[in-house]
Amino acid sequence: MAEFKEAPAGASALTQATVWLQNRFPTAFDAYRVHMSEYYAPKNFNWLYFFGSLAMLVLVIQIVTGIFLVMHYKPDAAMAFASVEYIMRDVPWGWLVRYMHSTGASAFFIVVYLHMWRGMIYGSYRKPRELVWIFGCAIFLCLMAEAFMGYLLPWGQMSYWGAQVIINLFAAIPFVGPDLAILIRGDYVVGDATLNRFFAFHVIAVPLVLIGLVVAHLLALHDVGSNNPDGVEIKAKKDPKTGIPLDGIPFHPYYSVHDIMGVAVFLMLFSAVVFFAPEMGGYFLEFNNFIPADPLKTPAHIAPVWYFTPYYSMLRATTDPMVNVLVALTLAGGVLGLLFGGFKTNGKIVIAAGAVVFAALLKTFDAKFWGVVVMGAAVLILFALPWLDRSPVKSIRYRPRWNLYLYGLFVVFFLWLGYLGIKPPSDAGTLISQIGTLYYFGFFLLMPWWSRMGEFKPVPDRVTFEAH
Ligand code: HEM
Repeated sequence: MAEFKEAPAGASALTQATVWLQNRFPTAFDAYRVHMSEYYAPKNFNWLYFFGSLAMLVLVIQIVTGIFLVMHYKPDAAMAFASVEYIMRDVPWGWLVRYMHSTGASAFFIVVYLHMWRGMIYGSYRKPRELVWIFGCAIFLCLMAEAFMGYLLPWGQMSYWGAQVIINLFAAIPFVGPDLAILIRGDYVVGDATLNRFFAFHVIAVPLVLIGLVVAHLLALHDVGSNNPDGVEIKAKKDPKTGIPLDGIPFHPYYSVHDIMGVAVFLMLFSAVVFFAPEMGGYFLEFNNFIPADPLKTPAHIAPVWYFTPYYSMLRATTDPMVNVLVALTLAGGVLGLLFGGFKTNGKIVIAAGAVVFAALLKTFDAKFWGVVVMGAAVLILFALPWLDRSPVKSIRYRPRWNLYLYGLFVVFFLWLGYLGIKPPSDAGTLISQIGTLYYFGFFLLMPWWSRMGEFKPVPDRVTFEAH
């Protein structure tokens, strides 16, 4: 045990209490030092660096409002819808708590998408931050599961039919699919058993994993240190006397105060939505979800909430003709690999056989199954990003100019896929979704090649920073 310290004679009550605590809980003081007052972050963070702390804020909002909702919510198919109406109409401030929680779900995705985007353009997933990124991707998966299961709980028409459609997708998986779908539902149709298990996962299992992952995400980040908009490693240039990075400033008070500005702006926007447009024109809370679930009445148009629709569009884009395009691309990829891959004979055999087998598999199972694969792969491919990017520089600031258009087009397609996923299917919409899906996967799968091409600007030794 460490030596007990003594408070100086005549010390104030506050100092005495601090010393008393320091003697009994030094770990808390060490944690404050390591993660706040002596965590040196690059001094050139910009507004895109607000979104990590905002994601933590939204996580807290969701947990606190969730706890209050559970006090009055009934996880029972016969009572769930009415219990939510009761919260909205009769529970004091219940409407506020519920709208904060439903708006919080969309806010979470807006904040996290921007947070991920920041990581992508500044190369924050690159060595040595691969694990920070991987924990982030796992958080994103959990967040999707959490939102999907939460959406069933109000037991409205969209809760019910949305769950029906998505769980049925799992049934398309060959061999195990139908049993898997029954396992998820707990029944042959979406019903009370489904509601109960989704409730258990939504209120306890997934949040626990989510919190654990966020802690791991931050610990991993603080071990390697933050990246910055220049993608310059600040630990490479340290003060020889103190060992502190020359471009680093203590997180507290500099960034703790800086983040308050982000929080203030966020809360203004968040309150504007909560108080004036909680349904957000049907995007945050779909109008059909104000009608109780009716297993006998399928709504004319079933669409997931906006944050899932880019991926939903990719699912819908995977039609039979699209599978034919994928077969052609697989075979063309195989031929290109053979001709220009620079592999030895064994490698060439593997490439040729792999392409033929995959093309045959594409034709063997139906397009619905491949739609599910495409949708899943669109999220899972993010995990591979640190190894797909081979650019000699991290930040987009020092990459060739045309990379800006590539990344810009990525955003345009992602948003467009999101928009199309909300709309009922149409021929033109399907074609655009197919192009968008091909662009999305092409962006990632061809990254090992295009990320090395072009002329790179020289990366400065120290971060660029203008005091303001
Ligand atoms: C609940 C969700 C999340 C929370 C609370 C969270 C929290 C944070 C915080 C507080 C930081 C440090 C401040 C900052 O750099 O903004 C950070 C950094 C980072 N996060 Fe997250 N994060 C979440 C989700 C994600 C996701 C989904 C990804 C990616 C798939 C991700 C990737 C990263 C990366 C790469 C960094 C380092 C950025 C840099 O140093 O430039 N995070 N996160």
